Amino acid sequence: MLKPDAVRRDLIGIILSRFEDTGLNMEAMRRLNVSSEQSRELYKEHEGKPFYVNLIDYIHSGPVVATVWSGPSAVSIARKLIGATDPAEAAPGTIRGDFGLLLDENVIHGSDSVASAEREIPIFFPDIS
Ligand code: RTP
Ligand code: MG
Repeated sequence: MLKPDAVRRDLIGIILSRFEDTGLNMEAMRRLNVSSEQSRELYKEHEGKPFYVNLIDYIHSGPVVATVWSGPSAVSIARKLIGATDPAEAAPGTIRGDFGLLLDENVIHGSDSVASAEREIPIFFPDIS
């Protein structure tokens, strides 16, 4: 999911092209304003943490672009492409390393396991499984 700062900063094309370059297949894409039900479900593992309220407010601060990608080792390939959570720690060449400065505005979310992807995909695409 491209977070609101990625959309505000016109980074949709350049970020998605990095996914396309890997050879992964895009299965679905949607630009939307995230509802509170959707953000609560997406980030339920972080509920109660000190950064939770900021994270939710931020996700509601503008439209996002949700995407689904498939292919061999899709989760680990996507997470490597995305880079470390904190842009200050993310390697150059990774999306977070190249396109952001702040932990709170790290341009992209990626499912961290196949189980997470199976839980998260229907939040944005209730019509596919
Ligand atoms: P994501 O879920 O967004 O793909 O990121 P991640 O797995 O790399 O990191 P995660 O631990 O799941 O954290 C989710 C998002 O919360 C924000 N965060 N802020 N201020 C903080 O200490 C803090 N820690 C995490 C980040 O925006 C992170 O992407
Ligand atoms: Mg996460």
